[in-house]
Amino acid sequence: MKKDKLHIHWYPGHIAKAERQLKEKLNLVDVIIEVRDARIPLSSSYSNIEKLLGDKPRLLLLNKADLVDKDELAKWCEYLKESTNCPVIVTDAKGNNELSAVVKTAVELSEPKIQVLMAKGLLRRPARAMVVGMPNVGKSSVINKLTKSSKTKIGAKAGVTRQQQWVRINPKLDLLDTPGIIPTRQDDQLQATKLAFVSSVSENAYSPEPVAKALLEMLSNSERATSIKEHYKTEELTLEAIANNRNWIIRGDNPDTERTAIYVLKDFREGRLGKIILDEFPLA
Ligand code: G4P
Repeated sequence: MKKDKLHIHWYPGHIAKAERQLKEKLNLVDVIIEVRDARIPLSSSYSNIEKLLGDKPRLLLLNKADLVDKDELAKWCEYLKESTNCPVIVTDAKGNNELSAVVKTAVELSEPKIQVLMAKGLLRRPARAMVVGMPNVGKSSVINKLTKSSKTKIGAKAGVTRQQQWVRINPKLDLLDTPGIIPTRQDDQLQATKLAFVSSVSENAYSPEPVAKALLEMLSNSERATSIKEHYKTEELTLEAIANNRNWIIRGDNPDTERTAIYVLKDFREGRLGKIILDEFPLA
């Protein structure tokens, strides 16, 4: 791969396998909790996600809400509710808040299925849920939060490997304690690049320099450009300008753009460049 060229690599064989594994796990549950990264509410999912997840009831979580603007996120919630027909809940799985709305909504969504089972003469059982999402969106953090107060591991059920346990969240809900991973397959390089911005693709799949450059270009064209220039104390948002300002110079008096790229990506990922949503709001 040429170092300065922006290209995110995908491995179709791995992706097909991961999708197969995800589908096997999905067969075990009544309701799906899909976690997305609030900074990229569209790009952190497939455009035809229903094809992968099937028609099971689904609850969308826009996680890492602490890293984006509240009002802008509220608009995205409304949009996603309408366009997906799924309930949408904003979460900060790193913060101290409870996720009780997630539990309540998952129970409500699975109730029709439980009623069907009961109509067939079966005893009521807790609904079964699992958390799915692309890498690094916060799936494990959500699971940890949901299961924190529950000590009840209820062991394996038929078809679930021993590594996977169900945890009783409350009398009406069991949760699989490992997430389902939606592989970050994207044929669209812009979407792939945004996934790289938020660490949703493996660092082996790209070089930091072109990715950081693409991020700075995107930020230059955003409403935040001025405040980010102030943050870096530069007149333009380029790796060279930021490196020069910090006096990060390497052999031959050249700006150390590689070091700067890693630094800029870290700044964005840790929220130091502002509360920014990078997906374009779809036109009505
Ligand atoms: P995954 O299972 O989907 O791969 O994601 P995971 O829960 O491991 O979370 C990935 C990273 O995102 C973790 O940071 C985690 O702390 C952070 N994270 C999860 N939810 C939120 C959130 O709502 N807000 C913010 N700001 N961060 C969140 P890490 O750097 O890998 O680890 P650490 O900082 O927890 O040590």
